[in-house]
Amino acid sequence: MQKKTVRDVDVGGKRVLVRVDFNVPMDQSGKIEDDSRIRACLPTITYLVDHSARVIICSHLGRPHGRVDDRLRMGPVARRLSELLKKPVESLQKVTGSVVEQAVSGMKDGDVILLENLRFCPGEEENNPGFARDLSRLADIFVNDAFGASHRAHASTVGVAGYLPCVAGLLMEKEIEQLSKLLEDPARPFAIILGGAKVGEKMGILEYIIPKVDLVLIGGGVAATFLKSRGHNVGVSAVEPDKMELVETIQQKAGSRGVRVLLPEDVVVAEKLEPDAAFLVVSADRIPADKRIADIGPLTVALYTKELKQCRTVAWNGPMGAFEIPQFSDGTKSLAAVLAGLSATTVIGGGSTAEAVTQLGLAGKMTHVSTGGGAFLQFLSGKTLPGVAVLADM
Ligand code: 3PG
Repeated sequence: MQKKTVRDVDVGGKRVLVRVDFNVPMDQSGKIEDDSRIRACLPTITYLVDHSARVIICSHLGRPHGRVDDRLRMGPVARRLSELLKKPVESLQKVTGSVVEQAVSGMKDGDVILLENLRFCPGEEENNPGFARDLSRLADIFVNDAFGASHRAHASTVGVAGYLPCVAGLLMEKEIEQLSKLLEDPARPFAIILGGAKVGEKMGILEYIIPKVDLVLIGGGVAATFLKSRGHNVGVSAVEPDKMELVETIQQKAGSRGVRVLLPEDVVVAEKLEPDAAFLVVSADRIPADKRIADIGPLTVALYTKELKQCRTVAWNGPMGAFEIPQFSDGTKSLAAVLAGLSATTVIGGGSTAEAVTQLGLAGKMTHVSTGGGAFLQFLSGKTLPGVAVLADM
């Protein structure tokens, strides 16, 4: 990697501000439903503790947009982090100010504190220079391990880099290395699976990645706009009409380069995406007018499986159906199992895809499960991520 990492700076006895992405899913009672993003930062935090740094961690949680929201406090995250680290983590109720400064000045080498939710402060999302300076005053070095937030030009991802030496954490390093390999040197054949709800979000990645892949497999809600573009009736499935022309252009561009774009041959359809909804499997060109696509069908699973078994690299973003509803989860489950069994490079990205693979207990069988949602999509769209751009070069 061309960027300096935490290994390239002397952290012993230093106050190190570590930006992480602990934006974890929580239930109503504040119970963390998936702690993968906390676990993913443990190598960096442990490295810093083992090298006698004073570790000041900060993260956003949810989208409170500059207001304090008691449901989005970092307390539960601090408790989970403490359990995982097997050491105390002091959870502060503020991000900056005298209470925080006092807590930091009382830290000993190897201590860990977690600041309150960064997005309680209006200056965070505004990338306000005053707020960035206040944050940076807490530390001697800034480590960015928040790959998942690196597409945001906020005070804690970009602003602080104007005031402190700024290096990558070990998760950030791993994410950049794994995703760069996909774009720069993938073993072929290379397939990308795209699903999820919104076709608009996938346009950037499709446009950029088509010249680099051999095969595109489409599923999920995204399939509706593609099927419609090929003249199929998609019932009441959500279609993005303003993206139709672009979808057509992308398919033409793919065709002219010999890249195959496969759409579902059959789909599971229902009147509504609810657990008790009646459903049926139909051919993709026979979707009833009053039904919507809920999952890919068994024939499509079989066809996609056959294709994937030929591939040496597979990237996957977006579930194949409404995975959170058991009766519409078969497509996603089946493809996850196929990928887990491939002797190929398998890279999973996007919040719900990563959650699905983790819930199925298959994350460990993949080459890499990215912690990025929007950041993953932007990286694979060839865009420069502001939080990566500010990291010191080697
Ligand atoms: C994510 O969940 O993708 C990251 O934490 C970024 O969150 P955001 O989309 O609210 O900036």
